[in-house]
Amino acid sequence: MAIAGKVALITGASEGIGWSIAEALVAAGARVVITARREGPLKASADRLGPSASWIAGDLADAATAEHAVAHTLTLHGGLDLVVCNAGILIPGPLTEQNMAEVDQVISVNLRGTIALMKAAGPALAGRPGASAVVISSSIGRHPTAGMGVYGATKAALHYLVPTWAIELAPRGIRVNAVCAGITDTPGLRAGAAHIPGLEQAVIGTNLIKRIATADEIAHPVLTLLDSDVSGYVTGSVWDIDGGFRRDGGGPGGPARDTDLEGAHHDAA
Ligand SMILES: NC(=O)c1ccc[n+]([C@@H]2O[C@H](COP(=O)([O-])OP(=O)(O)OC[C@H]3O[C@@H](n4cnc5c(N)ncnc54)[C@H](OP(=O)(O)O)[C@@H]3O)[C@@H](O)[C@H]2O)c1
Repeated sequence: MAIAGKVALITGASEGIGWSIAEALVAAGARVVITARREGPLKASADRLGPSASWIAGDLADAATAEHAVAHTLTLHGGLDLVVCNAGILIPGPLTEQNMAEVDQVISVNLRGTIALMKAAGPALAGRPGASAVVISSSIGRHPTAGMGVYGATKAALHYLVPTWAIELAPRGIRVNAVCAGITDTPGLRAGAAHIPGLEQAVIGTNLIKRIATADEIAHPVLTLLDSDVSGYVTGSVWDIDGGFRRDGGGPGGPARDTDLEGAHHDAA
């Protein structure tokens, strides 16, 4: 494994998928810098990770946060090898009920924040052996879903940007990939699902594994992509880690879906 001794920056890592990625990286011997907005939980999470972890707080909706996080990592560790663009928010809502301030918020964190982080991290990663970045996307970005338009659009945009960045950054020795996560048991999901009754059951009904993912089940493939000993030939890819979401053979002759995701959302609306 080419993770030991590497320096990694993970956004949105005080809990959820980001936390699991940070935990797995530390277990593999990396030094990690984790970010989130709230200092208290962030510091507590860094403490739980142990001496290999440090933290810097900031809202990724502000582009300066990305620059500060990269600068802080360079000051602390003298370099940066691995980046995980994980911070992202979901504010569901159908088109006709869209609150434009919320639209701006989702775009600022999920899209502008990721662009700002990759822009800041690119020069730092350049020329570092095994330099690698992974962007955390969502299966919703692949599959248009009622009530998830803005969130899904930010993730779909990342599916365009990741291969583009892979092309642009390959001459500097940087691999860039994305993981397209399916529904995953995290504090963010628990908070969001509370607003959409039946969401969890509906999603289970539309995937092949018939359960939602644990955060570790997303973190481990992310580590695989970060590890240049294993994935050194992989760049510009978007990897579906989604339990086979909506690959149920629907259509003539195919098995019927147990439940329909849009139905769950309409019920909630
Ligand atoms: N859970 C799922 O079902 C699922 C499915 C597909 C894709 N994803 C994607 O996976 C990523 C992580 O999701 P999750 O469910 O693990 O989230 P989560 O449980 O809500 O955790 C989010 C983390 O990001 C931080 N954060 C939130 N907004 C931020 C901001 N503006 N700037 C910096 N940090 C911020 C949070 O801390 P603070 O609140 O203190 O900032 C927290 O540490 C997201 O990109 C999400 O879109 C999740």
